[in-house]
Amino acid sequence: MKKHIALKTAVPGPRSRELHKARAEAIPRGAANLIPVFIARGDGAILEDVDGNRFIDFAGGIGALNTGHAPAAVVRAIQQQAERFIHSCFHVTMNEPYLRLAETLNRITPGDHPKKTFFVNSGAEAIENAVKVARRFTGRGGVIGFEDAFHGRTLLALSLTGRVRPYKDGFGPYVPEIHRMPYSYCYRCPWGKKYPGCNIECATFLEDFFQRYADPKTVAALVVEPILGEGGFVMPPREYYPILANICRKQGILVIADEVQTGFGRSGTLWACEQWGLVPDILVAAKSIAAGMPLASVTGRAEVMDAADEGSLGGTFGGNPVACAAALASIGLIETQGLVQRAVRIGERVRACFEGLWKKCAFVGNVRGAGAMRAIEFVRDRATKEPARDLVEGVRRACWERGLMVLGAGTYGNVIRTLMPLVITEDQLEEGLEVLEGAVLEVSRTMAPPASGIQAPEPPISPLAAGPAPER
Ligand SMILES: Cc1ncc(COP(=O)(O)O)c(C=O)c1O
Repeated sequence: MKKHIALKTAVPGPRSRELHKARAEAIPRGAANLIPVFIARGDGAILEDVDGNRFIDFAGGIGALNTGHAPAAVVRAIQQQAERFIHSCFHVTMNEPYLRLAETLNRITPGDHPKKTFFVNSGAEAIENAVKVARRFTGRGGVIGFEDAFHGRTLLALSLTGRVRPYKDGFGPYVPEIHRMPYSYCYRCPWGKKYPGCNIECATFLEDFFQRYADPKTVAALVVEPILGEGGFVMPPREYYPILANICRKQGILVIADEVQTGFGRSGTLWACEQWGLVPDILVAAKSIAAGMPLASVTGRAEVMDAADEGSLGGTFGGNPVACAAALASIGLIETQGLVQRAVRIGERVRACFEGLWKKCAFVGNVRGAGAMRAIEFVRDRATKEPARDLVEGVRRACWERGLMVLGAGTYGNVIRTLMPLVITEDQLEEGLEVLEGAVLEVSRTMAPPASGIQAPEPPISPLAAGPAPER
């Protein structure tokens, strides 16, 4: 098997360390860095740093690179568009890449009803705009979000985000009329139930929510990630979204699906929503939309999207023509290279590796996910499920020191997740998994053994991924 990782220096190398010193002077620490190297170039699923070290990338710029680093077709599209013109502002004079991309998203997003799309610059901005549109359409102000959710760092998006540290601490007050309910987190069921004998109380609770917390007539939208991203790739059972969506429809509440992290094939379907047959009223996408160019979309039912008055939506850079040209090329690659099917194959391999680790390592509490978005949740003890954040930090460090970039997740920071480009080769995938597995086993050996001594109390598979639900 050809090796792809090549380390010329210890990581971080001298040039990265030198630049890091300058970074500390020039850039605030709030804009943190997860892996302490500076990058010189990228190709597919490989990154090279400024010291000439080559890494396999399981982070993909936080899931923004489903079509890989610098795909040739996207680079060409960017160059060609930049040579014609870089910017004019869509609200001043229109451009064709914006139009063609809107048509494309209207075509490829779930549901065959008439749709309309507009563009902004980031996932957070798209969430803000989806809520604006939903409020304008319904004439209501309230919004329901979820515990453990992440929707971005601008104030409304942050108000909808669940995790306090490091995201929300000290940045309040937050937007009023945001209500929050627990997510469907089977491994840590807020109701202490076990699927499937739980009657999907996490979904039917929405009826009760309207009795106890918010009058449904004041609620414009429910905003949900079909699979939690930053929250640790938590995946509801198959009954969940049909129940939620049905309750929302009865109350005239719009469903906004945040597919920022799950979109463009990562979950093994083009949109994660499809796995539950969920057709949202508004779908928000960003990250892998344009192979790393800053762009985000808001797509929704035509009548909903047209509720906002002329001039009330948009921004100077939203739908920049270079970014839209990149998106058209990148979506073309997803279609022509069969990257959705590739996500399924990657996921099968990663799942086998993670389930193997669950058998070998008592600190693996749960493994889950869909397509190429797979996660391991680490606990100190399978009986107490106490989160093992330090183990994740140790594993991430051991990985980058050996040439693999991998990210954590989860409200407790105790989850490892995979966000590799879907163009990763078989060799690269195997090599990356070998490093990850070695790091998990090695760091585990430094941990105090679980007090309960429990090795395998329950199957590690998420209900949806497993088909028929396992005993949990
Ligand atoms: C599900 C989800 N929504 C929204 C966002 C915010 O996107 P952005 O960072 O582009 O503002 C993120 C970013 O990680 C995300 O994962």
